[in-house]
Amino acid sequence: MSSFNINLHEAIFSLSNALDLVGVVQIQHGKRVAFMATECGKMLGWNEEKLDNLFQAAILHDCGVSKTSVHKKLAQFAWENEKNHCQIGAELLKRTPLLKHLSDCILHHHTHWSELESLDLPWEVKITANCIYMVDRVDVLSLGFMKTDPNILININKIRDKIVEKRGSWFHPELVDVFLDVSSSLAFWLSLERDHVYGYVSSWIAHDITKEIDFQDLKALAQVFSHIVDAKSTFTKEHSDGVADLSRYLGELCHLSEHTCDMLEIAGLLHDLGKLRVPDELLDKNSKLTAEEFLTIQRHSFDTYDIIKNIKGFEEISEWAAQHHERVDGSGYPYRTTQKKLSLEARIVAVADVFQALAQDRPYRAGLAPEEILAILKQQVSEGQLDANLVNIVENHLFDCWRVALSALESSPFKGM
Ligand SMILES: [Fe+2]
Ligand SMILES: [Fe+2]
Ligand SMILES: [Fe+2]
Repeated sequence: MSSFNINLHEAIFSLSNALDLVGVVQIQHGKRVAFMATECGKMLGWNEEKLDNLFQAAILHDCGVSKTSVHKKLAQFAWENEKNHCQIGAELLKRTPLLKHLSDCILHHHTHWSELESLDLPWEVKITANCIYMVDRVDVLSLGFMKTDPNILININKIRDKIVEKRGSWFHPELVDVFLDVSSSLAFWLSLERDHVYGYVSSWIAHDITKEIDFQDLKALAQVFSHIVDAKSTFTKEHSDGVADLSRYLGELCHLSEHTCDMLEIAGLLHDLGKLRVPDELLDKNSKLTAEEFLTIQRHSFDTYDIIKNIKGFEEISEWAAQHHERVDGSGYPYRTTQKKLSLEARIVAVADVFQALAQDRPYRAGLAPEEILAILKQQVSEGQLDANLVNIVENHLFDCWRVALSALESSPFKGM
């Protein structure tokens, strides 16, 4: 297995951009929560390591939410089953070596202090979780008030009063006092605006250095996000994992290097990240999409590129992932790139994507048998869409391709979720 030189903060930041896509309206919620939580942590005199954990947990705290329908509920101050998304997020992170230390903080980011106080958990976890809970509610309140008055400064006292009401019951008393302190300036509230919060997060990225990360750890990190995408619709469950495994398998059959095959696997896991922006009802629709709906879906591969291009070390991966709907005759999207300019790796991900989608059940049809899939792939070759050589390779290993595309879950750390 190979390793990659990656700045982990940069990777987490990019992936938080993916989470932002789910909340089309409350964009950058995770980043604002990370900013407010860190400001509270600093006021409490926390050291760098504690602040860093707080920041990471805060920016990823809603990673258990992939459906736009659930995301709408986040805008309520409290709601039924609100802990469901905490459990999903915690479970995802628990299975990811690079992030598992954040799991309990995510699990309790909606637990009232009155309940959390007596739980058998390290103090740091409890206070980190409760800090995120408090500032998360601050963001939700401010977004709510801004619907009637977009000037956030008008609403400061109303928001602070609401938080004080929960002092000692929902939130640790000292956290509320610290929040009142940090939020006493106008600057704190103005800092929640888009440009500032972006700058704040960028300086956090600069705080980390590029480190060598083992492929398996990086793969598990990518799987958190592929799982979030695939969980959006019951019909795309395990799609990304299947595309990843099949891309790797085809790469091996093409005698590509081990490192390239590792990269292909990550490209497969992340290729549909942009789908987080697509409303649930379009992905679940079992009738023909309108032209407008189709365009909404089509932007997903560009959104994928937009999310991962900024991770240094992932430049090629982001290209291959972005080009999974390109076709060799130039009829694909979003770039209309032709065979000449499409790398072998990009063509591999494209074939793996079509194959896996045909192999699994979809709302409008059951999964197809290997021979039926091959017939469609050949048809697409004759129409100038897929790479003829690759489809030949698929034909020679048809049953293995089918098995690889569908058995991804067996080896996934998220099996059973
Ligand atoms: Fe949240
Ligand atoms: Fe796609
Ligand atoms: Fe896909």
